[in-house]
Amino acid sequence: MTLAALRTYSRVIGTGSALPGNAVSNDELARDLATRGVETSDQWIVERTGIRQRYIAAPGSTTADLGVRAAQAALQAAGRSGKDIDLIIVATSTPDQIFPSTACLIQAQLGANGSTAFDVQAVCSGFVYGLVIADAMIRSGTNARALVIGAELFSRILDWSDRGTCVLFGDGAGAVVLEASSEPGILASELKADGSHAGVLCTAGRVSQGKVEGHPYLTMDGPAVFKLAVNVLGASAIKVLQQAGLEVSQLDWLIPHQANVRILNAIAKRVGVPEEKMVATVDRHGNTSAASVPLALDVAVRDGRIKSGQHVMLQGVGGGFTWGSALLRW
Ligand code: UT7
Repeated sequence: MTLAALRTYSRVIGTGSALPGNAVSNDELARDLATRGVETSDQWIVERTGIRQRYIAAPGSTTADLGVRAAQAALQAAGRSGKDIDLIIVATSTPDQIFPSTACLIQAQLGANGSTAFDVQAVCSGFVYGLVIADAMIRSGTNARALVIGAELFSRILDWSDRGTCVLFGDGAGAVVLEASSEPGILASELKADGSHAGVLCTAGRVSQGKVEGHPYLTMDGPAVFKLAVNVLGASAIKVLQQAGLEVSQLDWLIPHQANVRILNAIAKRVGVPEEKMVATVDRHGNTSAASVPLALDVAVRDGRIKSGQHVMLQGVGGGFTWGSALLRW
């Protein structure tokens, strides 16, 4: 049967991820920050966030490099090559250049020339946005096989003198291969934004007339983001389950954006999902923005937790303010 005849649904056929070389523990980070006069501790970071380490890329490494490695791992898991891909969507807030898109840079390295390729800017919700867009493009018949990639070098936009943000984020990439299928696949989804909260989490700077104008580092009202994240993702999970006609008890795995283990636990409680059904990798990756959901997904697929036929909810939330959920039958 041709792929065109299968375009009722899209489904994930492979996952992959990539982390840059250096894992930096809280103690190592605290020691480094102390030399800059910034006081923090492993105890504070673990108690308030659950984060124990994060990966920081070396100078010179690029978002595209990380994205290519994650994509290659996903293609290998799917038994496909770059030539089989006709759509590449990259979710990133830390692109290598203003233009061309990181998707085009990645496309060239994968040998997927001629495919549709573009970036999505929805900050930490970007991967879920990209996945839902790719699903719609496959179901419409526009494309047949997609790579959706979340790739970030957030270490490059952190203000290392701001202990309220610099201990939280890390670098990484995750990817999935999504293919037309007669079987679901993605069962239901929603994508949302409320731009009236743009100021709670932003990197406001821009390049103009050859200079950086405005603050070029990430700023965040942590407690405001915390409350918004729990509220919107709790409600979104329930709505998307209803859309698919599923009970909460039928959900096998909840994979929210990995920002803070306290946020993850609060969402699980609000939705009524036991914490054992939540995938949490924020302890080892930190917050990797658009990469966090596909990174966590890849970990749970590769360690055998996620099994064929199970229901998996992926959720993104972040700057914009943006959020979204996608419910998949694996
Ligand atoms: O991906 C985007 C989504 N981002 C998020 O979801 C992040 C959401 N927000 C959070 O996860 C939490 O709000 C934080 C982890 C950022 C902060 O935790 P919190 O429990 O909300 O703490 P807080 O901001 O209210 O700060 C409590 C105290 C303050 O000291 P005082 O005023 O009580 O004396 C901070 O100055 O903790 C202090 N503090 C720190 N202390 C040691 C803030 N950062 C640090 C730090 N080390 N790194």
